[in-house]
Amino acid sequence: MDLILGIETSCDETAASVVADGRNVLSNIIYTQIKEHEKYGGVVPEIASRRHIEKIITVIDSALKEANVTFSDLSAIAVTDTPGLIGSLLAGVSTAKALSYAVKKPLVPVNHIHAHIAANYVTNKDLKPPFVCLVASGGHSHIINVKNYYDFETLGQTEDDAPGEAFDKVARVLGLGYPGGPKISKLALEGNPDAVNFPRPHNDLDFSFSGLKTAVINYVHKKEQAKEPISKADISASFEEAVTDVLVSNTIEASKRVSCNKIAIAGGVSANKKLREKMQRKAKENGMDFFCPDLLLCTDNAVMVAGAGYLNYKKGILAKLDLNATANISF
Ligand code: KG4
Ligand code: ZN
Repeated sequence: MDLILGIETSCDETAASVVADGRNVLSNIIYTQIKEHEKYGGVVPEIASRRHIEKIITVIDSALKEANVTFSDLSAIAVTDTPGLIGSLLAGVSTAKALSYAVKKPLVPVNHIHAHIAANYVTNKDLKPPFVCLVASGGHSHIINVKNYYDFETLGQTEDDAPGEAFDKVARVLGLGYPGGPKISKLALEGNPDAVNFPRPHNDLDFSFSGLKTAVINYVHKKEQAKEPISKADISASFEEAVTDVLVSNTIEASKRVSCNKIAIAGGVSANKKLREKMQRKAKENGMDFFCPDLLLCTDNAVMVAGAGYLNYKKGILAKLDLNATANISF
């Protein structure tokens, strides 16, 4: 059995986890900084990196304790090295390097997007590639053909904003606070998804959420100028309907093009109930199987890092102590 310690600090969650053989969770510790960033309406990178440094050791300690293991029981230490906020990533990477050196355990670099995909292996114990995975989060939206555990082909991606970013910006305009996704989807339950026909912009399999976000903002401003009342619930429901329509139809179309009948979703936006239900329904209509991670494994966590780290470790994808963090990568 291989025990992997996963470390995740790419954005505003300081997380550590111990996972056995990439699928069985022994511990999952997440210190979320949401409360601190909330008042600024989004993540402040400088605050995020400082907080990671303060919390990371305690979080790792807790992960080992909860799993009832020590460093000597580990096969390797896995850490997110890309993509993300550079200062935040560096906090995790530096800690992982120091630990790897001190406790003499291999260091495994993990791509955050691969990690989101690997969350599906933890929840769905029998899931194996090939499958097509929609990764939708605050920073990314990709439709990825997961050909095998190590071979990823991008079939579609965002041309501008990521869907989570659009949720966050629309929530800000409606005065709902940060992070916008959960707040909008809660309010949407009380609204009519057909109240406003927002655009569903996309370019073939690529997404574009900037235009949709602007359409919502213009709608709100026009109503305000005309001193007409707005229903935040109707706007939330209609916006959510438009975003999920695009995400679902592009993912189903991409799967058809590569003749794949297995669909998965991952990333923070995959916690969205409407997206989960709609994707499941459309997958079924098209004779496809549908997979998604447990809710807790959709948003940033270190279980997924340990999961992806296990796969890299098994293939000998290791890093040396000169490992550096990279903010952006082309995928
Ligand atoms: O994967 P994640 O935790 O961080 C990134 O890698 O970006 O995703 C965070 C994003 C935020 O934009 C948040 O608003 C969105 O995921 N999100 C949701 C929901 N929960 C989180 N969006 C829609 N519906 C949700 N229930
Ligand atoms: Zn993420």
